[in-house]
Amino acid sequence: MQNRSWAEPWRIKMVEPIKMTSFSDREKALEKAGFNTFLIEAEDVYIDLLTDSGTTAMSDRQWAGMMVGDEAYAGSRNYYNLERAVFEHYGFTHLIPTHQGRGAEHILSQIMIKDGDYVPGNMYFTTTKFHQQHAGGTFVDVIVDEAHQPSSEFPFKGNVDIEKMQALIDKVGADKIPYLSLETNVNMAGGQPCSMENIRTVCELCHAHGIKVFLDATRAVENAWFIKQREAGFETKTVKEILLEICSHTDGCTMSGKKDCLVNIGGFLAVNDDELAEEARNMLVVYEGLHTYGGMAGRDMEAMAIGIGESVQEEHMASRVGQVEYLGKKLIDAGIPIVRPIGSHGIFLNAQEFLSHLPRELFPAQALAAEIYLDSGVRTMERGAVSAGRDADGNNIYPKLELVRLTIPRRVYTQAHMDVVTESIISVWEKRSEITGLEMVYEPKRLRFFQSRFKVSQPSAVDEDGCKCCSSTVS
Ligand code: F0G
Repeated sequence: MQNRSWAEPWRIKMVEPIKMTSFSDREKALEKAGFNTFLIEAEDVYIDLLTDSGTTAMSDRQWAGMMVGDEAYAGSRNYYNLERAVFEHYGFTHLIPTHQGRGAEHILSQIMIKDGDYVPGNMYFTTTKFHQQHAGGTFVDVIVDEAHQPSSEFPFKGNVDIEKMQALIDKVGADKIPYLSLETNVNMAGGQPCSMENIRTVCELCHAHGIKVFLDATRAVENAWFIKQREAGFETKTVKEILLEICSHTDGCTMSGKKDCLVNIGGFLAVNDDELAEEARNMLVVYEGLHTYGGMAGRDMEAMAIGIGESVQEEHMASRVGQVEYLGKKLIDAGIPIVRPIGSHGIFLNAQEFLSHLPRELFPAQALAAEIYLDSGVRTMERGAVSAGRDADGNNIYPKLELVRLTIPRRVYTQAHMDVVTESIISVWEKRSEITGLEMVYEPKRLRFFQSRFKVSQPSAVDEDGCKCCSSTVS
């Protein structure tokens, strides 16, 4: 069976029609949205690759689970089902349910971080870093250098650089480091996994210094899949066993259930330590809800409990990652610069190389995402300087990676949709020299990428080489 195609381990029982738009519809929608794909109305989108978060198609079993939601204020049976599922698959004893991942990040940051602390992480995720800083911490990136190199084929670009971690301990002292935030399948690096060896080694180092390790387990199942594919000694283990092994090295996790867990809303914090769990529950009742529902309805907890079980099935992961690979390989064959190796939850276009004529100040990734939407109605997302925000002095941060993310929702689109996406990217690639970049005209105070607005940058009539510039198709 080795050389047979993967195919989805499900068939389609219900369909959701989507609107087809014309070029002029999209021009209007883009203008109205201030050239920010987050601000486009979903109705005006053809293929929505903005995110894999909460965009999953649930199974018939999950929908059936919704019908047995027990909406008791306290002690809902669905809470206990979820608690069992989390213990069975992630191995953590205390479940603190939250409305989504950032609810868990908020609680963890508030109970663990003191003013002046340092919180190392393997790259950052926007909301995670925000909550760490909001609690008085300083984020320190300890990911391996390869993670910042889009063309490096290193198979575990999510790894923590042990020397960077040791250097931070030596510099600030272990008592200033409450925990390491260890993200599995690092989103901002392109969906790149950590190896089991690295997870084990970094956890040993931290624990030897009394530093806890909390996983961002949002895409830990996808990470487990890559360990099975790429790390010696794991070929014959199941995804379920590998996931449990990842978690067993750590002290707990934050989870956005909207990804791996195959649901549209929900999340949790899970820990082993009794005292920490008690503190977390004290916070939970203030910010989310009672400890047996936190931020979720009973029916949502049931859907998540079932989704967790489905998420570790080998054939689910084979088709999930297989579909992303299918798109990635087509783009590579067409010569499009993407982050290598192909990650699990999406394809990341290297916007700096794609639009190499644009300076970072003109937000190449934002401009590319706008142009792709205009071309075909495919919605993607900027993951570069706009997402990175500003530093303490108010200057724009220009991260090494300036990417556009084509995120693939789970169990939603077909191979034919992936073909349409490929054709659109190729068409934008062919007219890339006409794209002039964007200038920011409105910037909100926090997590600016969600709501900032832009206008098309007008090229000077004559460029550096003395030739006349083309005007953008985006204007
Ligand atoms: N951690 C990671 C790695 C994430 O990707 C996300 C969300 C969160 C935490 C926060 O979880 O959204 O449930 O509050 N990522 C989404 C995305 C938004 O599009 O990548 P949340």
